[in-house]
Amino acid sequence: MCGIFGYVGGRTDAGKLVIDGLKNLEYRGYDSWGVACKIGTEIRMEKDIGKISTVDSSAFADACSLAIAHTRWATHGGVTKRNAHPHMSCDGTIAVVHNGIIENYAELRRELEAKGHAFQSETDTEIIPHLIEEELKSTDDFASAVRNACNRFEGRYGLLALHTLSQTLVAARTGSPLIVGGTRKDGYFIASDIPAFMDYTRTVQYLDDGEMVVTDGRSILFTDIATGEERPKREIEITWTIEEAQKGAYKHFMLKEIMEQKESITRAVNQDEEQIMTLAEAIRNAQGTFLVGCGTAGKACMAAEYFFSVIAGKHVNFAPASEFKLYHHFLTSRSLLIVVSQSGETADVLEAMKIAKSKGSKVLAIVNAKGSTIDREADYSLHINAGPERAVASTKALTGQMAVFILIAYALADKLQEGKTLLLETGAKINDMLNPRYMERIEKLAERIQRKQDLYIIGKSWNYPMAMESAIKIQEVSYIHAEGFAGGELKHGPIALIEEGTPCIALVGKDEVTTDILSNTIELKARGAFVIGVAPERYDVFDEWLKVPEGGAAQPLVNIIPIQILAYFLAVKRGKDPDMPRNLAKSVTVK
Ligand code: AGP
Repeated sequence: MCGIFGYVGGRTDAGKLVIDGLKNLEYRGYDSWGVACKIGTEIRMEKDIGKISTVDSSAFADACSLAIAHTRWATHGGVTKRNAHPHMSCDGTIAVVHNGIIENYAELRRELEAKGHAFQSETDTEIIPHLIEEELKSTDDFASAVRNACNRFEGRYGLLALHTLSQTLVAARTGSPLIVGGTRKDGYFIASDIPAFMDYTRTVQYLDDGEMVVTDGRSILFTDIATGEERPKREIEITWTIEEAQKGAYKHFMLKEIMEQKESITRAVNQDEEQIMTLAEAIRNAQGTFLVGCGTAGKACMAAEYFFSVIAGKHVNFAPASEFKLYHHFLTSRSLLIVVSQSGETADVLEAMKIAKSKGSKVLAIVNAKGSTIDREADYSLHINAGPERAVASTKALTGQMAVFILIAYALADKLQEGKTLLLETGAKINDMLNPRYMERIEKLAERIQRKQDLYIIGKSWNYPMAMESAIKIQEVSYIHAEGFAGGELKHGPIALIEEGTPCIALVGKDEVTTDILSNTIELKARGAFVIGVAPERYDVFDEWLKVPEGGAAQPLVNIIPIQILAYFLAVKRGKDPDMPRNLAKSVTVK
């Protein structure tokens, strides 16, 4: 996933503006950066490996009113200066930045090389400016050339293009997000995410899949890529404050977002009750309900299998989005797909939605990012209202997603108010738990185990998905090898891994499986493990106890929070940047 940003309009600091704006999108990708400024009838292009936050934008002070910029998360081609965007046509008149994957790029590259085009990089992206250059041999209209080129692509793309002989900025998207900001007065900003231009405008228009937009900074035209037909758009005012999108008093977004769970769970619970009842009815009437998500969002779905079973006696199935493909064999128009995604742009989830829709199944989305592709393409959406989640490690989105699932499960059992009360009480308990002393205790524990190479987490029932989620959190920010298991599975293999002093975390509640998970924990202890218990009560088997409130069906929401904090401190102590972990991106918009 990459960050892309372009501007065209009356301002003359477009080069500096797009660099500064892109720094707000660094969480989308930070292998390399690049900018192309149209100055007169020339393009000044600069690019390099490294983080865009290190770039001094004052070096781009030339008078320029049309510019595009990019931060890369490498997919095709290594992290090198040559592979950084923008990419140019042979004659140097066209510059392009791109997010996504052109899946038929190899075939197109061969076709273009046979026509004499010379390529400089290993990327799929570089075929775009060369194909536009080829299309300009049959039309003198730049936007038409871009359209014709896009109609040759297979795969996902969000792209910006400029030409030395045209004062227009052209953008097109299929599968990767692009949002248009601004008005004819301010000029127009086009980016893969809103924080890029929040300092300049709050007026946005969403580009949908299969659409392109052409603007000279005063006029703007949205059209269908395939047909060229105009697609009128309405302007929407963004209500986020800049502070919400920034770190505030915290050193890292991850810590800020963990702490925001004091309020975000309550916000997730405050849903329109009519809507919740409608969704519960949809699940009741469906011939099979499938919960689909990736990574952390997938763990919210795994936990929801237990919520629906225990609270409502309802059978639902979780499937990782990337594994959903073969489900089409039994999906029907009466099946219900519930997709969960923080960013609302995850390619594997979009793919699963397409499969479900091809069978006539209904799709409900539980998302955080309003206006995201998943939000707009679902038949029905619920927003968790967690506010912008910028750290790559998802924290407040997870607890918000689980809160919404618990609410729906209670509605299914005709006990919606009981569910709301439980969740609001849980939110209040979490608020009390997240105090400085608790943080210090966990920081000390991180100090103690920071040099360990392996760490295991066990859980049972709805704490089993949290054991899996704990592993993701610890892996992705501290790079410690962490694995989560169902407690009962230990004796079938993983217990062979336990040595003297191996740190093992046991996630425990106060429920019908507490005795079982405690006996699994004793098995670990008997092999020499250093046992960290996350539980409402202390037990002798614990070497270290991280106390959590008793949460009933919401126990997973409270149990995962000390692990989020532990993962954060492990990362910081090991000298890692918890907000931008290696090899990962905030939203995986490629399959
Ligand atoms: C979670 O910490 C990871 N960053 C990752 O597993 C993430 O949850 C996954 O990529 C799904 O993202 P989404 O919620 O935006 O769809």
